[in-house]
Amino acid sequence: MNNRLQLGVNVDHVATVREARGTTYPDPLEAAQLCREAGADGITVHLREDRRHIQERDVRAIHRAVALPLNLEMANNTDVVAIALDVGPAEVCVVPERREELTTEGGLDAAGTRDALVPVVAAMAGAGIEVSLFIDPDPAQIAAASDLGVPTIELHTGRYCDTTGAEQDSECARLIAGAGQARDAGLRVNAGHGINLDNIGGILRIPHLGTLNIGHSMVARAVIVGMLAAVREMRCAMDAYDGGQA
Ligand code: PXP
Repeated sequence: MNNRLQLGVNVDHVATVREARGTTYPDPLEAAQLCREAGADGITVHLREDRRHIQERDVRAIHRAVALPLNLEMANNTDVVAIALDVGPAEVCVVPERREELTTEGGLDAAGTRDALVPVVAAMAGAGIEVSLFIDPDPAQIAAASDLGVPTIELHTGRYCDTTGAEQDSECARLIAGAGQARDAGLRVNAGHGINLDNIGGILRIPHLGTLNIGHSMVARAVIVGMLAAVREMRCAMDAYDGGQA
């Protein structure tokens, strides 16, 4: 089916677990390979300025070894832009970034930072990299993205995912309207942030979607569904104990 909704799996938080102990595992590359085996359509990583999870070597390894399109999320920051141009992922998604934030809070101000975005959009387009802007479902931001000439936007679903009741319904309506506006402007529409198995129902009401980028909830779920196997593996290794050496 041509219009099958694509799943981009964000493996950042596999690296979060690794960085928490400074080990070599779990390896986001290995996770990305498994995502591919399980039917993911793409891999997403966010190379943050503070390198709190994904490292440059992860980006390069995943791009080299995983036979899926790589979507690199990045701030409009000179160093990361240079890495993106050197690596050449299929897509970059420009996101706002503040060091003190827990995760990407709020969409990019495409309207207010237009002048700073023009060169990066041109550089990526020149390198054949699809550029996406991560923005709130705000008519002014969608118009600014269109004005910048990017092919794609990613609608920030965080507020929808973090609210309930009337507030959530109203945010869902904004996402639906935003997707329509973007589509009318000729933009491809992706969405992401905070999506999980409990809130995906509302997300599926948004029209014109190409790809959903989902990370934290899937890594969290993998810990739970993988726990039986992990305990059994260690139990089996420990069963080799025959009293040790006296
Ligand atoms: N899309 C963008 C642009 C993001 O910044 C993030 C978080 O890195 C995601 C999607 C995935 O969000 P989550 O980890 O909450 O699923």
